[in-house]
Amino acid sequence: MTGANTLRLLHITDLHLYEDLEGEIYGVKTAQTFQATLSRALGSAPGPIDAVLVTGDIAEDGQTATYRRFREEILEAGLPVLCIPGNHEERVQIGEILSIPPLQLCGARRLGAWYVILLDSHVPGQDDGFLVPSELERLERELVAAGDAHVLVCVHHQPVPVGSPWLDAYGLANAREFLSRIEAHGNVRAVLFGHVHQDSDQLHHGIRMMSTPSTCAQFTPRTQRCIMDLAPPGFRWLELLPDGSIRTEVVWLEELRRTERPPDSRQEM
Ligand SMILES: [Fe+2]
Repeated sequence: MTGANTLRLLHITDLHLYEDLEGEIYGVKTAQTFQATLSRALGSAPGPIDAVLVTGDIAEDGQTATYRRFREEILEAGLPVLCIPGNHEERVQIGEILSIPPLQLCGARRLGAWYVILLDSHVPGQDDGFLVPSELERLERELVAAGDAHVLVCVHHQPVPVGSPWLDAYGLANAREFLSRIEAHGNVRAVLFGHVHQDSDQLHHGIRMMSTPSTCAQFTPRTQRCIMDLAPPGFRWLELLPDGSIRTEVVWLEELRRTERPPDSRQEM
């Protein structure tokens, strides 16, 4: 049970959907694992959910039809859905479909005692991420606009290393500028990211840095080169308390655990 003013958020990430329902990445039919993950989360929620956070790599193929189907499926939950783009996105197509209310693409949203800032780190044609000057300036403005609210920042690319050199080479290229801004304001409690296809949770200058498993396939944590993991799809619950503290839990769909390592079918990350 959450308290009256505690927010419960569902975090899903790195769906890698195709227009083709049979489309696969890493040997996984991503439409099926997304559906399985979403229905498990909605069906097992310990109480009312206040919003869904989707931190990028929604479509693998960047097709309008893929975003449209995602939109229809996620809206069945009847919840606010806050999205950001990942490196695989196509800017025009994602903007056309996911910025139509009640979905929200980027921007910010006040939720109770919290303020959620949704950043765009997508660079067309690149696997690593970058916050362009106008996005860093917007971050500054949002951090001021948050006032005395506790801030949760969502960004697709990891702003801190997760311990796999091959993967950390494709993180947020100007992480230093991002981190210095959020450290200076003192109101950011957590940063939530995707991209790394694994669970991680660390503290950076008192700010919680968390990633969540993909709804499809995972990378093995802390490896020198890419080794796919046997770990199944997963998602994260977040409970944001009015005092700025956070309770969180990653849930894995254990029945979908792999018995052999998926092929590394990345053309790129
Ligand atoms: Fe991804």
